[in-house]
Amino acid sequence: MSSFLETKRSPQVVVGVTGSIAAHKAVDLVSFLVQRDCAVRVVMTADALRFVTEVPFKTLSRNPVVKDLYDTDEDWVPQHISLADWADVVVIAPATANTIAKIACGIADNALTCLALALRPETGFLIAPAMNGRMWSHEATEENVRILTARGVNMIGPAEGLQACGYSGKGRMSPVEEVGAQVMEMLRERNLA
Ligand SMILES: Cc1cc2nc3c(=O)[nH]c(=O)nc-3n(C[C@H](O)[C@H](O)[C@H](O)COP(=O)(O)O)c2cc1C
Repeated sequence: MSSFLETKRSPQVVVGVTGSIAAHKAVDLVSFLVQRDCAVRVVMTADALRFVTEVPFKTLSRNPVVKDLYDTDEDWVPQHISLADWADVVVIAPATANTIAKIACGIADNALTCLALALRPETGFLIAPAMNGRMWSHEATEENVRILTARGVNMIGPAEGLQACGYSGKGRMSPVEEVGAQVMEMLRERNLA
């Protein structure tokens, strides 16, 4: 039985960032979640670091950023495992075609894909794809998205519009407010927000 004096802990969200031109939008997503009292940890792929540095993520989340499988902290448990245990919801935004494919296949070759494979069944998992329209409509990507959806992974977007590559169509990452709102909804479903 819980007493009314008990304080509710903050919802715990891992934001995964991959190598897309939309990676900068993940900075605003972290800010959105922190402003709603979420504890946020960020995991970046090596390619994400080509688009945006860890500095805004570290500063806004007030936590070190995980960038490598071999990043160490005080603990003996690898960070991708401790974060998989810690997370109430994991959101990958933006998610590249590459990372979506790896997760669909169970490939675990970096901190983010290892974390995805190590998630507890009850953890919410949201993916916000961002990619060129032809990459999005390729059969391989469509099949990977079907696999993930069938496993209970939530997908949001992509949205229509002008893409950084100059093409127009479906492929832009969904607006940060929509992705953040869906994370908050997934936390509410778990009585955590
Ligand atoms: C300028 C530039 C923009 C890119 N944007 C995207 C993108 O929005 N979506 C995507 O799926 N791949 C994009 N790519 C390709 C990915 O960066 C590449 O597939 C990479 O291996 C992804 O690695 P990651 O999934 O480990 O982050 C882009 C590449 C470049 C050079």
